[in-house]
Formats: sequence, C-alpha cells, structure tokens
Amino acid sequence: MDHTFQWNDSYSVKVDAMDDQHKQLFKIIDELHTAMRSGKGKDVAGNLLRRLVDYTIQHFAAEEKLLEQKKYPGLTAHQAEHRALTHKVIAFKNDFEAGKASITPELMNFLQNWLTNHIQTVDQKYGEFMNSGKHSLAKGISAGASSKA
Ligand code: FEO
Repeated sequence: MDHTFQWNDSYSVKVDAMDDQHKQLFKIIDELHTAMRSGKGKDVAGNLLRRLVDYTIQHFAAEEKLLEQKKYPGLTAHQAEHRALTHKVIAFKNDFEAGKASITPELMNFLQNWLTNHIQTVDQKYGEFMNSGKHSLAKGISAGASSKA
C-alpha cells in the first residue's frame, strides 16, 4: 500500500483536536490520490475536491478560533497564511471544474506540500506555544464535520 498521503507523528501539533482534523485532511487527499490512480471519473474527483475545500475552510476556522481563545501571538500571520492556502485550493477546484486542470501526480505533490509544509512550519509553532506550560488545551474543539462529509 502507498502511504505517501498518510498522517504520521512528524505532523503532530500536540493538540489532539487539531491532529484529528489534520488526519481528516490527509484522508481526503489520500482518497483523491486513490481515485487518480484507479482512474475514477471526474465526478468522483470533483466531489473529493469539494470536500477538501469545505473541510479546509472548516478546519481553518476551528483552528483560528482555538488560537484566538488561547491568545496566540502569531494569530494574524497564521490567518493570512490560511487565506492564501484557501485561495490556492479553491482556485484549483475552480480550474478543475472548468476543465482547465486535472488530477495529476504533480497536483497530488502540490496538495501534499500545501498541507504538510503548513502543518510542519506554521501549525507546529502554535503547538509549541500551547504546550509551553502556560496554556491549558481546549477540549472539544471540532471542525463541525463528520468524516463522511
Ligand atoms: Fe491546521 Fe493552520 O492549519
């Protein structure tokens, strides 16, 4: 089995609720990868891209809410990064729906880098902040979507 798009501990931000949501994003990208490799139709890929966009927006909102509650000092820069990432994935979805882009290995690399770079460079910083001993973790933060969204 190909585990290229699987979550692993190197992506942990040490905040369980956020790790769970990141795992969900990996799962959707992995499903997209599987759909591409098995030659699934455009409808399947289109649905998965829409799920990716929807869940990304929900996750970013939940994460920003948590960072705001915790008075995270890097919140503004983090929000700007979220806006840029959201813009990119929506632009791709729109191009795909307009027939101007297709699901290719290059796209899958782009999506993986889009997600993993953000988690490992930007998200893990708030993980360090929240685990610094000064802040208790918020419980029950949810993106408001089930895994079958
Ligand atoms: Fe988990 Fe900042 O996205």
